[in-house]
Amino acid sequence: MSQRLSKSRVLPARSIRGEIRIPGDKSLSHRAGFLGALSTQGIEVTNFSPGADCASTLACLEQLGCDVAREGDRVKVSRGRGIRETEGTLDAGNSGTTARLMCGLLAGIPGAFSVISGDESLRRRPMSRVVDPLRTLGARIDGRDGGRCLPLSIRGTRLCGGNYLLPVPSAQIKTALLLAGLSAQGSVTVTEPVPTRDHTEIMLEYLGVPIRREGSSITVYPFEDLPGGSWRIPGDFSSAAFWIVAAALLPDSDLILRDVGLNPTRTGMLDILRRMGLNVQIGSPSLSGGEKMGDLRVKGTGLAAVSIDAENVPALVDELPVLAVAATRAEGVTEIRGAGELRVKECDRISSMTEGLRALGADLDEHDDGWTIRGGRKLHGGSVSSYGDHRIAMALAIAGLAADGPVEIDDAACVSISYPGFFDQLAAVVQRGESPG
Ligand code: S3P
Repeated sequence: MSQRLSKSRVLPARSIRGEIRIPGDKSLSHRAGFLGALSTQGIEVTNFSPGADCASTLACLEQLGCDVAREGDRVKVSRGRGIRETEGTLDAGNSGTTARLMCGLLAGIPGAFSVISGDESLRRRPMSRVVDPLRTLGARIDGRDGGRCLPLSIRGTRLCGGNYLLPVPSAQIKTALLLAGLSAQGSVTVTEPVPTRDHTEIMLEYLGVPIRREGSSITVYPFEDLPGGSWRIPGDFSSAAFWIVAAALLPDSDLILRDVGLNPTRTGMLDILRRMGLNVQIGSPSLSGGEKMGDLRVKGTGLAAVSIDAENVPALVDELPVLAVAATRAEGVTEIRGAGELRVKECDRISSMTEGLRALGADLDEHDDGWTIRGGRKLHGGSVSSYGDHRIAMALAIAGLAADGPVEIDDAACVSISYPGFFDQLAAVVQRGESPG
């Protein structure tokens, strides 16, 4: 715990230059683990995310009786003895994806009774969004506040098929339902109001599991034992996002980001930053495990303000805190709306970024669902809090690079949730000297 309460000091930078290899994608790593748990042959991936969130998924799967082998960034998960009842509580730690996908996985496995909980932040986050749709398939899930919050208890049972229209665009809910569908007695169709990250669909297709995608609906069918597979997980676009903004904001920057996942349902921030004037080139396009990836070269440039609304949000939801940092330096007024989901992430990301950016001299208003940010202002040094949220810590660190004085970030070790090497990589690419005016 004391490590998570550490402070980090970020100094102004003149530019960032060099090359960064981005660690494996968190969403894809979770999914490789979950689908491996349903496969006798197993799924083996390299470049598995080094973050604590994906370690939570692996620990839960191992506790449930799956075989989990990890050596460096190589991870293999297979069904093992099959999922069985555990004596202790499953601990999802800080990871919403672990908790929600676990509900989908376990709800349809008859006989297994499980209890899942998580850390203080996760116990505050909404779970009814996944519990309610699973209940429509017959899931027997209960929990604190009627199943709205962790801890949740799940009594695995034979689920029926069904159709579900997602009330909120959420890839976690969609994936929980698709996982449940694989062990249900009939097909499960999920319809989404706005497309969300489609990694589960791509991974199932890559493995050769029947799945139908039609307009905004996805259908899966009962499937006994998933085929195995092996591939390399692309770098996490959401981790690359911090460097993209840093390089854009610092005028002499020239940064190459290697092996970045470029699934279009994840790269909404690139489209928005391009509209703002970003200088980016994409090279070496390839596919891995059915997912698009490539190298990005980003150079420093002036940015202009932009408007973001609900339609844009799912494809850049995790990037909004760092995009807010970019907006503080962009010429003009940036409107970010339709992003109320940020209030139920690892912390309330709307209020924590408002507080952090204001402490550094930014001029912004907070709304229920986003911010109005009056840009073009130089940020100054100051003390800020991450609120224990990895993406807030990293976004404020990028603000610190572009500020004209040191920025002290409280509880910055929480970056280990998704990106343990963040501060080391920052030290490797940063060029000191006068920060840009
Ligand atoms: C994720 C989906 C998103 C995202 C989270 C990871 C996933 O959450 O914010 O970091 O892996 O499916 P929601 O599904 O709640 O939008």
